[in-house]
Amino acid sequence: MRYSTLLTSLENGIFTVTINRPDKLNALNKEVFTDLNNAVDEIQNNPAIKSAIITGTGTKAFVAGADISEFSSLTKAEAMTLSKRGQDIFFKIENSAKPVVAAVNGFALGGGCELAMACHFRIAGDNAKFGQPEVNLGLLPGYGGTQRLTQLIGKGRAIELLISGNMIDAATALQYGLVNYVVPAAELLNKAVTVLSLINTKAPIAIAACIKAVNAVYDETSDGYITEINGFGECFDTEDMKEGTTAFLEKRRTNFTGK
Ligand code: COA
Repeated sequence: MRYSTLLTSLENGIFTVTINRPDKLNALNKEVFTDLNNAVDEIQNNPAIKSAIITGTGTKAFVAGADISEFSSLTKAEAMTLSKRGQDIFFKIENSAKPVVAAVNGFALGGGCELAMACHFRIAGDNAKFGQPEVNLGLLPGYGGTQRLTQLIGKGRAIELLISGNMIDAATALQYGLVNYVVPAAELLNKAVTVLSLINTKAPIAIAACIKAVNAVYDETSDGYITEINGFGECFDTEDMKEGTTAFLEKRRTNFTGK
């Protein structure tokens, strides 16, 4: 599929989605949201895709936030609709059955930090900067940022970042647990590919069950322990579970098929 604001490529099962508005530091406008929504569908529907990377074009910004130029004319009701749409698309990323990793190549501010947090985990280049500067605009994050930042770094640190508008660098983000790795900027995509290449050798149904069970921790409408029991049982019905246990006993490598 072709997108007006995204560049995409598929190599060895890894789908790389690059947000491509370099003149606006990859800010999230309506078109980017529509494209991202469709790209997440493509990730789920294309059997050749095993996992995905979301990154930004250039060396300066991952995403410098929601497109502020779209904010000025919004009514209260329109703002709430925009917030709901952003949240829905980011939920869709978070609930993707296939792993989606953010490769943060510069500023991840506002909606950019929220997008990175909606991914399953984050890898940062050493030039990355994270923040929720909405308070400088007289706003708060609208795409799940208040919730996911608190989940990822804890209440005290989250509230300080939200109400100060301060940015943190990649080393601090690592210390806070916001990112899993910090690597030299030039090696960022290679690192993401290396991490996902290993994950891509694992059983897809088990991966999906892990993601679902972890997400259930944060979902008040589902019981995570029950989700785990159900996933555990469902995996016993898969060919991949038989392959995994047989390969172990036969002391050979696994060859998972996703069935
Ligand atoms: N929305 C719309 N446009 C944005 C943007 C955003 N969130 N972030 C950057 N841009 C645009 C700038 O307006 C500028 O466009 P122009 O060249 O047409 O004037 C271009 O991207 C380059 O940004 P600029 O501000 O000139 O770069 P800088 O290096 O001086 O500063 C930042 C970089 C990231 C610190 C600064 O762009 C910034 O603070 N952006 C907004 C961050 C924010 O508040 N995000 C939360 C939004 S809810």
